[in-house]
Amino acid sequence: MDSSQRIPITLSVNGEDHAVWVEPRWLLADVLRQELGLTGTHVGCEQGACGACTVLVDGAPQRSCLIFAVQAAGHAITTVEGLTPATGLSPLQEAFQRHHALQCGFCTAGMLVTAEALIRAHGAALDEQTVREALAGQLCRCTGYQFIVDAVLDAAQGRA
Ligand code: FES
Ligand code: FES
Repeated sequence: MDSSQRIPITLSVNGEDHAVWVEPRWLLADVLRQELGLTGTHVGCEQGACGACTVLVDGAPQRSCLIFAVQAAGHAITTVEGLTPATGLSPLQEAFQRHHALQCGFCTAGMLVTAEALIRAHGAALDEQTVREALAGQLCRCTGYQFIVDAVLDAAQGRA
C-alpha cells in the first residue's frame, strides 16, 4: 500500500489529541512508537503473549499489539509516559525503584501500566493474590516477580 492510501485518524494519547495518517493494517503499538515517538511502550512477541506492549484503553489494560490504530481512534489511550510526572517519578515508579522491581526493564512499562489500573481499581485494599493474578499475563524474564508484587502492594498503600 502506498502512502496515499493511508487514512487520517485522531488518537487521544495521554490527554492530547494527535492527528495521524495510518495504514489500516498498522498496529497501535507501532503507531505509538514510530509515529508519535512514545517508545516507552515496548514490543516483544507481537502476538498478545508477553504483555510488554500493554497500554490503558479507556482505563483498562490492553495489548497494543493486538489493536489496529484505527480501532483506537475515539478512545482514551494512556501509555507509560502518561503515568510519568514531568519531573521525577510517580509513587508507583518510586516503589519499583525502592523494591528493585526491574532489571533489564523490558517488561517494566507494561507492568507499570497494568499495576496502575489495578491500584486505581482496588486502592489500599489491593491484596497479593489479586496482584499476582493481574500480572500473570505480564511476562518478566528477570525478576522472579516477588519484588514487583512487593512494589505494587507498597504503592497501593498510598492510594485511597
Ligand atoms: S508485544 Fe504485545 S503482548 Fe507481546
Ligand atoms: S525486568 Fe527484564 S523482563 Fe522484566
